[in-house]
Amino acid sequence: MNMYKSANKYFNDFINNNFDMNDEKILHKVKHTYQVVNNAKYICEKLNLDELNTDIAMVIALLHDIGRFTQAKEMKNFREDITNFDHATLGVKLLFEKNEIRNFVNSSKYDEIIKQAIANHSKYIFDDSGLSDDEILQCKIIRDADKLDSFRAKVVDDIYTMANIYAEDIENSVITDKIYNDFMCEKTILSKDRKTGIDMWISYIAFIFGLNFKCSYQLIKEKDYINKIFDRFEYKLEDKKMNDLRIKALNYLEKKLIS
Ligand SMILES: [Fe+2]
Repeated sequence: MNMYKSANKYFNDFINNNFDMNDEKILHKVKHTYQVVNNAKYICEKLNLDELNTDIAMVIALLHDIGRFTQAKEMKNFREDITNFDHATLGVKLLFEKNEIRNFVNSSKYDEIIKQAIANHSKYIFDDSGLSDDEILQCKIIRDADKLDSFRAKVVDDIYTMANIYAEDIENSVITDKIYNDFMCEKTILSKDRKTGIDMWISYIAFIFGLNFKCSYQLIKEKDYINKIFDRFEYKLEDKKMNDLRIKALNYLEKKLIS
């Protein structure tokens, strides 16, 4: 049995035994986890990685948000900008300080690479200093795989479940200048700079500026995520600016696809 298969077996028990499977936020994260596993597999295939690296990437994807389940249970929301809860750090603690990792993965051979990938998966800026080439590769894979599922979720999933805001908060708010300017400069958005509902929405779209692999851009293009996310709401106060941002995002995508 490969590492992923046995890790997944325990993952199911772990989730079912510790969390309420009728809780929307728990279900949302279970769905997200498996979508990220699929995305990681997709990226590995496109990068022509061997079986072992693909197996490691899938295990990392399975475990990357393990801290989110406790976050959903205890905080009832995923807003780290207002709660100071860091799900990546909690995940690392749970797996490597409480040694929960041994229930998922028999061998300790890949502990460091799994730990680094989980610790770095959601950081605003990924600092690769001190990491090995293999660790850097796995960090990049999980960062892209995670963001790709954020794009899917923003098209179809319930906004309140994801971000503790309502459609009206996005439709009836104004864009903070810094958010607009960062986006137009092709920068990802720092969580603490977001002031309004529409700022939050824009920050998710700005993930496009932080991807590592061409195949990630290909998937976004294939699924037409950018247009679908912009189309999801009516921007009652910011129609013109949102159109500028849409054009910026679409042009950026085209630039990445030909580079
Ligand atoms: Fe995630």
